[in-house]
Amino acid sequence: MTIRLGWPDVGAEEAAAVAEVLASGQLTMGPKVAEFEAEIAAACGVPHAVAVANGTAALHLAAMALELGPGDEVIVPAYTFPATANAVALTGATPVLVDVDPVTMNVDIDAVYRAVSPRTKAVLAVHLFGNPVDWDTLASAVAPEVLLLEDAAGALGAKWQGMPCGGLGVLGCLSFHPRKTVTTGEGGAVTTHSEELDAALRRLRHHGIEVRDGVADIPRPSTNYRLSDIQCAIGIPQMRRLPELLAMRARVAAGYSERLAGLEAAGKVVVPRAAEGDEHGWQAYVIQLENRDEALTTLRAEGIEVQIGTYAVNLLSAYRDQGSRPGAELVFRRALALPLHSHLTDDDLDQVVAGVARFV
Ligand SMILES: Cc1ncc(COP(=O)(O)O)c(C=O)c1O
Repeated sequence: MTIRLGWPDVGAEEAAAVAEVLASGQLTMGPKVAEFEAEIAAACGVPHAVAVANGTAALHLAAMALELGPGDEVIVPAYTFPATANAVALTGATPVLVDVDPVTMNVDIDAVYRAVSPRTKAVLAVHLFGNPVDWDTLASAVAPEVLLLEDAAGALGAKWQGMPCGGLGVLGCLSFHPRKTVTTGEGGAVTTHSEELDAALRRLRHHGIEVRDGVADIPRPSTNYRLSDIQCAIGIPQMRRLPELLAMRARVAAGYSERLAGLEAAGKVVVPRAAEGDEHGWQAYVIQLENRDEALTTLRAEGIEVQIGTYAVNLLSAYRDQGSRPGAELVFRRALALPLHSHLTDDDLDQVVAGVARFV
């Protein structure tokens, strides 16, 4: 039997919520959007959350709301899903790729410090796979006028020193893709403490339309990044079950870490963990091993759906001119994401770890 990589935790409650929206006749920009947004804002500890079409749209809207453009630089980690860098590039600004720490896989904060230039407008930090970035240290690495933004696509429910990821930066971007802890099929959100940015985000997700004294205008063109009521209805029960969904993922992660402890002690694998005082969101459980490619191909052929971690963005054609980033390249070559979802049994975990052990 195949051991699947991911398996969205959706069921009868979500199906009933969708049926209710279909029966209501209001499929988009109805009450479910605001209800979903309120759940997201509460979970992230912010006053505002704006639901959007997907996590990439969230990142792009965040960059647009800050009016980034040609001549601006935004520091982004070199090891991340390419959407982090693409969203910046789409505005005409330059994503400056900075290397990552090969153990935490998060941005190397000393490298951020070195990459700051007079053109640096923001740092878009990624809590990769749900592992919180050391926010205080990051803040101390840049001048106060450099904006700190979060790509919290995989970090809903994760906490940095007790504070929710997605509520730490000027803007936070979330994804509700099916491999995320909370899913709406496709979906995303931008969070913020700022009323002004909230208004800009709402305008920009709806073509840039602004209504003043009953008259609609478009001061600055944008696009349609709205999320439908159908999708928001799926997200609401998911958000209400967030503590349960997080606990399930933490249980699987602990099960892997326990089984991998011997190999970790022998220096054969790098096992993921949050820093002292942080809570990992476990969007993915990503180990590192030297023989990753062989493990990936063989385990897949045997029905264990493992996956690479994510990308060394500097190796992609669009960004190759930025040169080498050794930490990102090392992790890109060694990272292996193990199956992570609520249907995994102890036997499945035994089987996955026994499979991995053959390649170290
Ligand atoms: C770190 C990171 N940023 C952005 C995204 C983009 O999210 P979406 O797939 O919802 O567009 C992802 C999705 O995998 C991600 O992992």
